[in-house]
Amino acid sequence: MVKTLRVDTSRPYDIKIGFSLLDRVGELCRETLPRAQKLAVVTDSNVQPLYLERVTNSLKQAGFQVLSLTVPAGEGAKCAEQLVMLWEKLMEFGMTRTDVVAALGGGVVGDLAGFAAATLLRGVDYVQIPTTLLAQVDSSVGGKVAIDLHAGKNLAGAFWQPSLVLIDPDCLSTLSDRTFSDGMAEVIKYGCIRDRAFFDLLDRCGGRAGVTEHIEEVIYTCCDIKRKVVLADERDTGERMVLNFGHTIGHAFELAGNYETWTHGQGVAAGMNWAAQIGVGLGVTPDIVEPIQTILEKYDLPIDIPCPWDTLTNAVLRDKKNLGGKINLIVLESLGHAVSYPVTFDQLLEQLESMREIRPWMC
Ligand code: GLY
Repeated sequence: MVKTLRVDTSRPYDIKIGFSLLDRVGELCRETLPRAQKLAVVTDSNVQPLYLERVTNSLKQAGFQVLSLTVPAGEGAKCAEQLVMLWEKLMEFGMTRTDVVAALGGGVVGDLAGFAAATLLRGVDYVQIPTTLLAQVDSSVGGKVAIDLHAGKNLAGAFWQPSLVLIDPDCLSTLSDRTFSDGMAEVIKYGCIRDRAFFDLLDRCGGRAGVTEHIEEVIYTCCDIKRKVVLADERDTGERMVLNFGHTIGHAFELAGNYETWTHGQGVAAGMNWAAQIGVGLGVTPDIVEPIQTILEKYDLPIDIPCPWDTLTNAVLRDKKNLGGKINLIVLESLGHAVSYPVTFDQLLEQLESMREIRPWMC
């Protein structure tokens, strides 16, 4: 059975979740985009051999003229060169403003293809077909699309909502344990920030095998939480910032490993543990550090990551939530309820210093 969530943003769209949905991509795209004739599927070199043929067959059966474009797997593809390549190929294909781009893959493909769609001909429709857990519960929903610049990640981008998000949980069976855990950090985050009962369910599931038995419900709950947060703040000026729980310090951890040693999810996991401890230190968060550490360990996620002190403080200072001289730190008022809590840099530094004292490896 297919479950549908309606996202009533400036460009409303449906998120559809169901097993074997990949074989119905054509039919569902046709239903949503009846005027489209051409559809360009953007994927990467890992996903292409796994799912591209199924998706293009389904699209052709639904009457679309299909082009497929494959970019190299990995974050490196989220760059200006690949974006220009996509623009040129899409125009050679003869795309018009009623035609469609589809992103088949993880967050990199979704962000890159979404940004190409947002900018081509001043904006064409795009469909997200996320194949990683991280993309299914986070990046495919909410319309943030971007490429990386030498100056940092996601620095050139747009808010451009997809026309449809199609999530087939079957795709997760081909993920490595590391990539599955990467997505679980964001799944656990939703429990921390908005849903205690969901947190408890994840805790009871106890790991990949257990959570896989509930995967449709898990993906649905995450997308529903994200949908509500995005509806309240589509352009990320207020409530949407709660989605960044654990991300400020998590970014420092990712940077410390040059974005290779640690996945985004691993950085966020350790970042959530730190953010919980900082919240306790600030007197905002009750002592819920232990359940957070326990659940992270169940999903093979780190609670700490070695990171030079300068990298940590620079990331906190430069973070995009640093507004008007204060840093809007995302902290938990309780397990299941995150708030944005303004602190001065000195207040935050004091908390970080106390965390540093008990970590002799931090230089
Ligand atoms: N991934 C955070 C957001 O979409 O706002």
